[in-house]
This record gives sequence, C-alpha cells and structure tokens, in this order.
Amino acid sequence: MTMNRRNLLKAAGAITIGGFTFRPAYAELPKLKKKDKYKVGFAQTESNNPWRLAQTKSMEDEAAKRGWQLVYTDAAGSAAKQVADVRSMIAQKVDFILLAPREEKPLIPAVMEAKKAGIPLILVDRNVDQTLAKGGEDYVAFIGSDFVKEGLLAAEVLTKAVGGKAKIIELQGTVGSSPANDRMTGFKDYIKDHPGMEIIASQSGDFARDKGRQVFETLYQAHPEATALYSHNDEMTMGAIAAMEAAGKVPGKDLIIASIDGTKDATQALLDGKVLVVVECNPKFGPAAFAAIEKYGNGETLETRLVNVDRVFTKENAAEYMPEAY
Ligand code: AHR
Repeated sequence: MTMNRRNLLKAAGAITIGGFTFRPAYAELPKLKKKDKYKVGFAQTESNNPWRLAQTKSMEDEAAKRGWQLVYTDAAGSAAKQVADVRSMIAQKVDFILLAPREEKPLIPAVMEAKKAGIPLILVDRNVDQTLAKGGEDYVAFIGSDFVKEGLLAAEVLTKAVGGKAKIIELQGTVGSSPANDRMTGFKDYIKDHPGMEIIASQSGDFARDKGRQVFETLYQAHPEATALYSHNDEMTMGAIAAMEAAGKVPGKDLIIASIDGTKDATQALLDGKVLVVVECNPKFGPAAFAAIEKYGNGETLETRLVNVDRVFTKENAAEYMPEAY
C-alpha cells in the first residue's frame, strides 16, 4: 500500500490541527546506555544479489568479531515486510537498529516507531525521504555512498569515452529508492551540458539481474539505435549483457556500458572489455556501522551523514581490485 504525505506524517506520529502539522512530542533522539556488548538489529531489504550478500556478511563478521548479538531480518524485497521486521526488532528490545531502507517513503513509520520506542537507529546505504525524517532528530545518522556522485562519475567516464555522443538506454534501480533517484539525478546533471548524450529509454529493472535482462531486451528491441547502456547496478548490467549477446551484439563495441557497484562478475566484464566503467558502491558497512554504535554508546555525537569514499574501476585497475570484489 502506498501512503500519501499526510498519512506518512500521521504514521510518523504527527498531528494536524487547523491545517498545520505538528511533529511528535518525543522529539529527542534516543540515547544508548554504554555496554560491553550490544544486541543489534540489522534490517536488510533483500538477498537476491551479491551486493546485499556482501553487506550482510560484513555485518555478521563485525558482530562475530566483537561478540555482539546480531538480530538479522530479510525483507525479501518488500517495504511492508521491512517495516514489520523493524517492529519485531522493537518487540525484541534490541539496543540499536541498523536499517537499509528499501524505499525512501514507506520506511518512515519504521524510523519513527524505533524513535518512539527509545531505540536509536542508523540508516545504512540507502536513505529515507529527508522532508519526513531527519538525521540527528529522528535517527542518529546515515552511513553510505554519495549516489548522486556515483551517477555523475558514470556519466563523466562514459561521455569522455564516446566523445560526447551516445544514444543511451538507462536501467534504473528500484522505483522510490534513494540510489535509483540519486543515480538518475547525478547522471542527468552531468549530461545536461553534453547535448550529444541522449537518454532514449529509461525503465526500472529493480536492481535485479533477470529483471534487468528482460527490461533491457524490451527497450533495445524498441530502440535498436542505442549505442550505450547506463545501468544503476552490476546485476542489471549482467542481465543486459546476456540480452545483448543473445541478440548477437557485442557488449563494449555495439553498446558502451557504464555500471555501478563492483561485483566479481562486473569486474570480470571490465577485464573482458564488455564494460567500460564500474563506479564503486561499497557494501562492506560492518566496521563503520558498529564503530558508530560504539561511539554513540560512549556518548559521542556522530556526524549525521557519514559518506563512503567510492573508487572508479576500468580495465586499467580491474585486476588490482578483483581480490576485493564480491
Ligand atoms: O543501495 C545500494 C544498491 O542496492 C546497490 O547498488 C545495489 O546493487 C543494491 O541492491
């Protein structure tokens, strides 16, 4: 069920009187009592791709290293289930919640209910709608990549490689998610100054390999004049490459490809000359997220936005990066 803004604010505990909306009274950010070991909830969005599996493993490894308890849930691609997962963590009285929100708006109630229950929460990798919830007020902090910059970097490398002229098919990520929104914004921001760079078709492949393959196949059949692909993640890229090859096309020649993440398969595709560029989106959040919880428990104030530094991979540095790929 999609909620409109008024209902989202209501779910967040706001009240409307005479046309004015008032924020909840429990305005203070929950504190964390200092302990040697914490019980941490990690609410994952889905586990259908290597990026998500690497992110979960990083959380599990860090919890094991510290001897902390990890309460893990997998929303299996459903924002509604992810809200329910956070509610179950609240019921289990975890000390802290790490939430990777699948979409920007539907996860607002989860953020607000954790706050109301007095459980501090950090958003990892994806963000929520910033007009409805704020870091330092409703949740402790956001830790993740600058998705706008990722889109911009992908556009920059692609534009230079094609001499400023391409007919681009865009495979977007999950509709309503912050990486899909921001990667689109960053890419468009860059190409707006390059009139020869034209997005001729754009559709969501939901960050999934098979969906990416199907969507690319349909878009390419409708737009055989395409000369480039911009894909919001490596899984959709690998799906699109399968579709190109099935159509007798040569990825890297007939279509120049820009992608995001840094999976093993995409890194191999860089080495094989099928992909031009992969902008890194690092999924290994465990060390940074757990260190942030420890600091918060020590009474330190955290930056409300902690941004990962992402690299750019091409054929030149792909072999060097490969041992780290997932
Ligand atoms: O939120 C980060 C994105 O989500 C990654 O790029 C993608 O692979 C994942 O599913």
